[in-house]
Amino acid sequence: MKNILVTGGAGFIGSAFVRQMIARHPELNIIVLDLLTYAGNLNNLLAVSDEPNYRFVQGDIASRSDCAVVLKEYAIDTVVNFAAESHVDRSILEPDAFIRSNTLGVNVLLDEACRAGIGRFLQVSTDEVYGDVAPGAFSVEDDPMLPNSPYSASKAGAELLVRAWRVTHGLDTVITRGSNTFGPYQYPEKLMPFFITEAIDGRPLPLYGDGQQQRDWLYVDDHARGIACALFHGESGRVYNIAGEHQARNVEVTHQILDLLERPASLVRHVPDREGHDLRYAMRCERLKALGWQCEHNFEEAAASTVRWYQENEWWWRPIKSGDWRDWYQRQYADRLAAADG
Ligand code: NAD
Ligand code: TYD
Repeated sequence: MKNILVTGGAGFIGSAFVRQMIARHPELNIIVLDLLTYAGNLNNLLAVSDEPNYRFVQGDIASRSDCAVVLKEYAIDTVVNFAAESHVDRSILEPDAFIRSNTLGVNVLLDEACRAGIGRFLQVSTDEVYGDVAPGAFSVEDDPMLPNSPYSASKAGAELLVRAWRVTHGLDTVITRGSNTFGPYQYPEKLMPFFITEAIDGRPLPLYGDGQQQRDWLYVDDHARGIACALFHGESGRVYNIAGEHQARNVEVTHQILDLLERPASLVRHVPDREGHDLRYAMRCERLKALGWQCEHNFEEAAASTVRWYQENEWWWRPIKSGDWRDWYQRQYADRLAAADG
């Protein structure tokens, strides 16, 4: 491996992966290809923008020419694909963009990468492909994929394409399935950055339904290290779960955020639930641990430092919470909050 293409590297997890790779692997060239959708942000890559082994190219994984040009120009030998539409609520309202980037885009990227004769292709996937997990149970890699949202269905579709390229064309592929990730530079539509930034401003926190849904929470640096571990040491054709092994209910996470910010519980509003809401995700990740990876951050400390980061970095999120974000807020929450208040 020498020239690594990181698609979607201007997003939340992709940019953490890029910052880590640049810091730890000066011998590798990191080329980011990112469309810069509403969620892509070059401020996430400011820390590496002057590094000699980093390049940024704006482009679309669903465009054959964008992929072919970057693969050839930078003699890419490895692809790590983060590029995706990533928010479940948006996939319920606007599924087309998810199928386009997450499924069709992966088809184009796989095909062009294969034609360019690359070595390894790593697809970043999610625990949501397993679907809802019964209380007490934990998903392992060989469990069936039973996705329930347009987002998770589009990611499961991508995984099947990755499998097909391996079997049909002999491409060296690895898939990672990470759990709910949190940390600095996360677009403030996902639960933690949304609630942290809203609570800082003393605004209502719209908790879906009874708030009893459970997620496994994984700190972003642990997720990025897990992807690097699977990239360097993973067995070809395998899937690797990456979990923080910290399951918590949404209502608990919400109150932890409020306590850290010293904001009142009265900010919580129980609003009408998300359609098709998966109640629980939980995974075991012994397969990745066997490669030497382990989670280094405990949830309480990582949540506290994440809250502090949003308190200290308003320059990053305040400009985002205008324009496109406001339109999204109106569409997703105006009626729900009105129903809760009524
Ligand atoms: P994000 O929404 O913050 O970033 C996605 C990035 O992809 C953005 O920079 C965007 O501009 C780019 N992008 C979107 N469509 C593109 C296209 N067609 N061509 C090129 N670039 C495009 O997402 P994230 O939270 O960083 O997630 C990254 C990956 O990790 C996704 O594949 C997601 O499914 C997966 N994942 C996310 C989580 C999580 O909790 N956030 C958990 C597990 C897996
Ligand atoms: P989210 O961050 O959107 O991640 P995912 O849907 O991929 O798990 O949501 C995490 C949990 O928080 C999920 O159960 C939905 C819930 N949630 C709310 O209750 N209110 C909100 O405004 C958001 C964005 C999420």
